[in-house]
Amino acid sequence: MSEEVTYADLKFEDSSKTEHIQEFHKCGIKEPPAPSHIWRRRALALILLCLLLLIGLGVLGGIFYITSKTDMGELNKLQEFKEELQRNVSLQLKHNMDSFEKVRNLSITLQETATKLCHELHRKNPEHKCKPCPKEWMWHDDSCYLRVESYETWQKSDAICSNHNASLLRIKNKSVLEFIKSKRLYGYWLGLSPRKGNPNTKQSDTAIISSDWYTRNTNGLNDKLNCGYLHYSNVYYTSCTETQRIICEKLANSVKIESVLTTEVPGGRT
Ligand SMILES: *[C@@H]1O[C@H](CO)[C@@H](O)[C@H](O)[C@H]1NC(C)=O
Ligand SMILES: *[C@@H]1O[C@H](CO)[C@@H](O)[C@H](O)[C@H]1NC(C)=O
Ligand SMILES: *[C@@H]1O[C@H](CO)[C@@H](O)[C@H](O)[C@H]1NC(C)=O
Ligand SMILES: *[C@@H]1O[C@H](CO)[C@@H](O)[C@H](O)[C@H]1NC(C)=O
Repeated sequence: MSEEVTYADLKFEDSSKTEHIQEFHKCGIKEPPAPSHIWRRRALALILLCLLLLIGLGVLGGIFYITSKTDMGELNKLQEFKEELQRNVSLQLKHNMDSFEKVRNLSITLQETATKLCHELHRKNPEHKCKPCPKEWMWHDDSCYLRVESYETWQKSDAICSNHNASLLRIKNKSVLEFIKSKRLYGYWLGLSPRKGNPNTKQSDTAIISSDWYTRNTNGLNDKLNCGYLHYSNVYYTSCTETQRIICEKLANSVKIESVLTTEVPGGRT
């Protein structure tokens, strides 16, 4: 038992000697001149101190590592939260845009339905309140037409329509053509561009759709020009200074939705 202890002591003494020297070098303390009991104790204390310092450093490093790790975790969490928020915001924005478009589509559909309904009501009662044309004007598609029962030159007729914020009748598509044919109009000026020569040439009704329709500002209209007029479903040209009847056209307003909802009793109370 005692032998073992001595051996350990000796071993310690031997190894500690070299270690102590090394430690002294490390800690930068001058080597004492002679090894003694007191010196050994001091060395031990110093070793312990050095060890403690090392442990402290380790612990500090550990703490630093953990805190930086948790900081990184926090940062990542924050980043994720930010991304989620951005996703949610853009989702919300898209949702709002969809709702906005739905409302817009719905109002378009509502307007179309009101227009269709008004056409129906107008068919039964031509002066129904919902008609989007002024009184006495006829309504077809999205245009209004007014017959002016007086005979005027083409230029005067054009001016009369202009005063109504309208233009002379133009037949630009089949729908208008059919509507006009049903009215059996004869001797009405058309909003065709005045042209030279060829009076009394007849144009077939379908050809007039692609005709040269008049756009305002043909100033200095001279006597030699010919203007087109409608006679049943034919178009003829005659001198612009002759007189014909007038039909004006202009764009209809949009049908007021509330106007189709009120039922009007003809000649009675509403
Ligand atoms: C994002 O939206 C989801 C589902 O709508 C919700 O559960 C979550 O809390 C939202 N996130 C944020 C950061 O608002
Ligand atoms: C609105 O109408 C347009 C075209 O009519 C359609 O492409 C779109 O999908 C509609 N939007 C909604 C939200 O219903
Ligand atoms: C035909 O033209 C008239 C007016 O020029 C217009 O109101 C109508 O919508 C047009 N119809 C078609 C089917 O293009
Ligand atoms: C024509 O339009 C003008 C301005 O847009 C308006 O002041 C005038 O009352 C309108 N005339 C008719 C007959 O509708």
